[in-house]
Amino acid sequence: MSGERLFHTRAATEEDLRHIVRLDEEAFPTAPYPYFVLRQLLASFPEYVFVVADGDVLVGYVLSTPPDGARSWILSLGISPPLRGLGLGRRLMATSLAHLRARGVRRVTLSVEPGNTTAITLYRSLGFVADPAGPYPDYFGPGADRLLMSLTA
Ligand SMILES: CC(C)(COP(=O)(O)OP(=O)(O)OC[C@H]1O[C@@H](n2cnc3c(N)ncnc32)[C@H](O)[C@@H]1OP(=O)(O)O)[C@@H](O)C(=O)NCCC(=O)NCCS
Repeated sequence: MSGERLFHTRAATEEDLRHIVRLDEEAFPTAPYPYFVLRQLLASFPEYVFVVADGDVLVGYVLSTPPDGARSWILSLGISPPLRGLGLGRRLMATSLAHLRARGVRRVTLSVEPGNTTAITLYRSLGFVADPAGPYPDYFGPGADRLLMSLTA
């Protein structure tokens, strides 16, 4: 037996909600999405939420929006801390971007904390380009500056 872990990527279901809530709290401990927001996103747009599982345990998630015209947003991406650096974030982003492109999306935008070099490096490697007008001060409220990055197909 190799001991290699087999991670499985799939669309989310409403049963995944409490696990996505946990993953979001792990990914963004100081400002997770409120439970009710995640519940409403999953109920409204289930096909725009993907998860990655290690057996039965969810270890990552990505949230995007349905296209508005040909534009969508990535709203969140998080991988369980002990499993970071294994390619799972890249895998979830690739899954989500392929899903969006197949639905006619030509521009994908996201916001990222300007000091989050891990995420920014990942997004750059996928072709995202930073909005040169950013970072935007107080984008998410006092002290919560954000860089906007976009990928154009
Ligand atoms: C950002 C995050 C989702 C990346 O997921 P991950 O599974 O750890 O990333 P991957 O293993 O797929 O690595 C993807 C790329 O990220 C970059 N990266 C990963 N770990 C890194 C590190 N420690 N330092 C710098 N860059 C790093 C590399 O460019 C890497 O590409 P490579 O494998 O070709 O070298 C994860 O770190 C996380 O959940 N962070 C907390 C939540 C967060 O910041 N989300 C994004 C908010 S916009």
